[in-house]
Formats: sequence, C-alpha cells, structure tokens
Amino acid sequence: MLTILVTGATGNVGQEVIRLLLNQNCQVRAAVRNPDTATEILSVHPTAGFSDHSIDRVPFNFTNPATFATAFQGVDKLFLVRPPNLANVRKQIAPALEAAKRAGVKQVVFLSILGADRNPILPHSKIESYINRLGIPATFLRASFFMQNLNTTHKEEIKTRGELVLPAGHGRTSFIDVRDIAAVAVRTLMEDGHSHKAYTLTGGEALTYYEVADIFTAVLGKPIHYTNLSVWNFIKQMRDRGLPMDFITVMVGIYTTARLGLASHVTPDVEQLLARPPLTVRQYVEDYRQFWL
Ligand SMILES: NC(=O)c1ccc[n+]([C@@H]2O[C@H](COP(=O)([O-])OP(=O)(O)OC[C@H]3O[C@@H](n4cnc5c(N)ncnc54)[C@H](OP(=O)(O)O)[C@@H]3O)[C@@H](O)[C@H]2O)c1
Repeated sequence: MLTILVTGATGNVGQEVIRLLLNQNCQVRAAVRNPDTATEILSVHPTAGFSDHSIDRVPFNFTNPATFATAFQGVDKLFLVRPPNLANVRKQIAPALEAAKRAGVKQVVFLSILGADRNPILPHSKIESYINRLGIPATFLRASFFMQNLNTTHKEEIKTRGELVLPAGHGRTSFIDVRDIAAVAVRTLMEDGHSHKAYTLTGGEALTYYEVADIFTAVLGKPIHYTNLSVWNFIKQMRDRGLPMDFITVMVGIYTTARLGLASHVTPDVEQLLARPPLTVRQYVEDYRQFWL
C-alpha cells in the first residue's frame, strides 16, 4: 500500500487532499509543524470536518532538517505545498527535497502556480526546476487563483462591510476551487501515468470582480460591492488596516496580474482529469456561505 506524505496539511489545499486520501487505499501521513494545533484545525474543516482524529501526523518543518528523516521514512509519494511565507527556495525548500530524494520518494506532486513555467522569478518556478534537477519524477499542478481566498483573506470585508476591496480593475480571473485542485492531486498521486507532467488548473470561467460581487449578492441575499481601487489607494488602505508591507506587496502583485488580464486563462485540464466540469464560483459561495453571514 502506498504511503503518501502531505505537506501544508492544515492549509487550504492540503486539508482537502487529506480528506480525499482518507477514502483511498493508501496510508496518509500529515506533515505538520505542530501536531496538537493541527488536530484542532483538521477537526473544524470548513466543508467536511474530520471525525477521525487518528490521522497519522508527523512533525515536519521545512526550516528544521532534524524533522526530515522521520517524516520521509517509508514515504512513496509526496504532496508538496510551498508555505507562502517561505520564499528562499535554496535555503528553505531545497533541503527537504534533498531529504525526500535520499528517502527514495518515487513521485512529488507539487502545488505550483499559474505562470510558473513563464516566470523564473517565482519561487514555484525555482522549486519545479530543483525537483527536475534532483531527478524525482514529478507532477506540477499550476493552479490559478483560489476561490477560497475569498473566505480567508477577504472574509472580514465581505462579511462586515459588504465589499470586496481590490486593485484588480476590470480584469478577469479563472478562479479555481481548492476542492478541485485536491481532487486532481489525489488522482495524480493514486493513478499511474502522471509523472513528468504539468497541468494548468483553472476554473471553467474567468470572471471580473464585479461579476463575483454580483454572485455574492445573489447567494447571500445582501448587497456586496466590488470597490475597484487604484494600486496606491489599495496600499494606503491596507497600511491603515495595519497589514505588513510584504503581504501587501504580494497582494498587489497578484491583483495587478488580474488587472492586466494575465489570470484569465481557462484550460480544459481539470475537466479532463476529473471527467466533470470544475466547480463554479456560484457553487463555492453557496457551499461556504456560513463564512460571510
Ligand atoms: N492562494 C492562491 O490563490 C494560490 C494560487 C496558486 C498557488 N498558490 C500557492 O499555494 C501554496 C499554498 O498557499 P496557501 O495560501 O493556500 O497556504 P496554505 O497551504 O493554506 O497555508 C500554508 C501551509 O503551510 C504550512 N507551513 C507554514 N510554514 C511551514 C513550515 N516552516 N514548515 C512546514 N509547514 C509550514 C502551514 O502549516 P501551519 O498549520 O503549521 O501554519 C499551512 O498548512 C503557496 O505556495 C501559494 O503560492 C496559491
């Protein structure tokens, strides 16, 4: 039976991957920084909740090589998530990949990002290159913008002020639901034939934030407005709210990409891999509505 190690197990996609792998014929091991808080997080999963507290959890920290040997012992496949706070690939991610290689991991399924193949500055691009250099068979899942950013990063402004405040202009984004990314990840982990492949994972439609706000308004039954800020006004508002400048810079980068129309690409990959259309923004808002009420 395959043993699969899931990093980012408490995160957006990792939680869903764990949930789906629990129904597969494999041993699932959640790699977590803090096993106690991980249990709490996994038990209040937004759409499922894990009744099974016996998920095998192993301490793992990308920046603490002492955790690697135990975490990777006996692991056949690795679901790799780069924590957003770790940008120095050489120092903070590569040592774990080298440990995976030493432990004989046979496949890495890496949660990458749309455009990683075109933009070598992105940490995801560097990670893809490093995995290839190590020669570990890999599957790269280059994902578009997550719908779930709207119930995490943007939850409070939607819930309390009825607005979405972004510098994304009229640009379109091919939002993807992390549940679809996880379903693809599980397929590529459990099935043969996905090594040495890269998939570009998007939703089935690219929407402007005006259209997203309209969907929220219809589903929640209260007006939600998109406040289309200039980049400078956005930075000022975020500073006023006390957000750190490095976080604001990442947000500006992401929403400028959307503003320029560079996040609007729609691919057939999710539908081809799952044999069903991707989840829609409307379905997502319906399923997660309790976050904004
Ligand atoms: N958001 C998007 O729209 C989007 C789109 C495409 C790709 N991506 C990429 O997807 C990845 C995940 O992003 P996300 O925002 O969804 O984050 P996330 O997976 O929800 O959260 C980060 C995860 O990493 C873990 N973690 C943090 N520091 C760690 C460390 N030192 N060692 C081990 N684990 C650590 C966290 O665990 P703890 O519980 O210990 O904190 C958490 O499980 C990122 O690489 C991002 O660039 C994001």
